[in-house]
Amino acid sequence: MSTSPETPAVFVTSATGSVGSALCRQLRDLGWGVRATTQNLDSPSAKALQEVGVELTLGDWDNEEALRAGLTGCDKLFVCLLPDLQDFNKVPNRAKNIAAIAKAAGVRQVVGLTTLGAFAVEEGSEPPSAHAPGPFFVQHLHAKKRVEQALIDGGFDHWTILRPGFFMANFLEPKIHMGYTEIRENGTWTNSMTASSPLGLVDHVDIARFAVATFQNPDTFHGRRLGVVSEEPLVQEALDTLAAAIGDGRSLKANFLSDEECAKAQAEGGWRFFSSEPCVRYMADYTNLEELNKLLPGGLTTFKEFLEREKEGVKETYGV
Ligand SMILES: NC(=O)c1ccc[n+]([C@@H]2O[C@H](COP(=O)([O-])OP(=O)(O)OC[C@H]3O[C@@H](n4cnc5c(N)ncnc54)[C@H](OP(=O)(O)O)[C@@H]3O)[C@@H](O)[C@H]2O)c1
Repeated sequence: MSTSPETPAVFVTSATGSVGSALCRQLRDLGWGVRATTQNLDSPSAKALQEVGVELTLGDWDNEEALRAGLTGCDKLFVCLLPDLQDFNKVPNRAKNIAAIAKAAGVRQVVGLTTLGAFAVEEGSEPPSAHAPGPFFVQHLHAKKRVEQALIDGGFDHWTILRPGFFMANFLEPKIHMGYTEIRENGTWTNSMTASSPLGLVDHVDIARFAVATFQNPDTFHGRRLGVVSEEPLVQEALDTLAAAIGDGRSLKANFLSDEECAKAQAEGGWRFFSSEPCVRYMADYTNLEELNKLLPGGLTTFKEFLEREKEGVKETYGV
């Protein structure tokens, strides 16, 4: 792959995933080189990426040979790693390993994707107890912070951490299976928000656009941990927007868990964060929509616009 300052090459982890796929396409649209590994070269997503010129090789995050081959010749790195809720050390160790291989291969800029919740465990700013994550969630958030630290400590010239809110795609297949099928089956969403707490929704394509902007403007974004959302409606407003997009006359209703119900879910080992964690009520404390709109050329995507763009996914998910 030939690279130049105008057309650098980027190694994208989770390239076949929602954010990664969008990022690969946007980078290819710019004429940049894109490399990635996948565990399945024949998946529909992998095939689609190869068709737009992404150089995919078979491998996973533990395959150092595949990582080294992919990273050699790349200038930039995007790191998005799935959490491991059984072993909170595994993913930070993977991040450290990937960063070391990237540094040795000559990568100079890294952009990491973690989660908005990382703000709730920021060192030196003890959150008020109402904002504090529960004992299980806190381990997940600390693992995300350790992923961030591995990238920050990686010795790159530029680093940026994107901390996204709640993916709009969670309301659609396949992510609806991450704990949100109640919306489709019962027309309700039982969650640990309140009627008045803004839901930090993010379009995964917007996250990819932030990553592209960061790769294009390393100095502007260097050293930032940026909370990334696209819109912040109330939960019931979001459900009304979704119901209107489904368009078959159904209504969707938010059910808000009390503090006691959240505590009970936590005591039972609840790991579905939006069904047991009151701290998600404070997501909007960590975002600045006005700044985000200024940083992203073309502005942010509303939930309504997302659902219009993804109307085939809405049909597939809700059977209309
Ligand atoms: N959903 C939310 O609301 C939300 C909110 C905040 C943050 N996040 C974060 O967003 C990230 C998920 O991003 P996404 O939704 O774009 O991902 P995704 O669509 O779930 O895709 C997962 C990706 O991970 C890759 N993968 C899985 N296991 C792998 C392994 N062992 N080795 C190499 N690759 C592996 C898959 O690639 P192959 O199968 O092709 O190899 C695939 O590209 C997570 O870190 C999550 O914590 C999500």
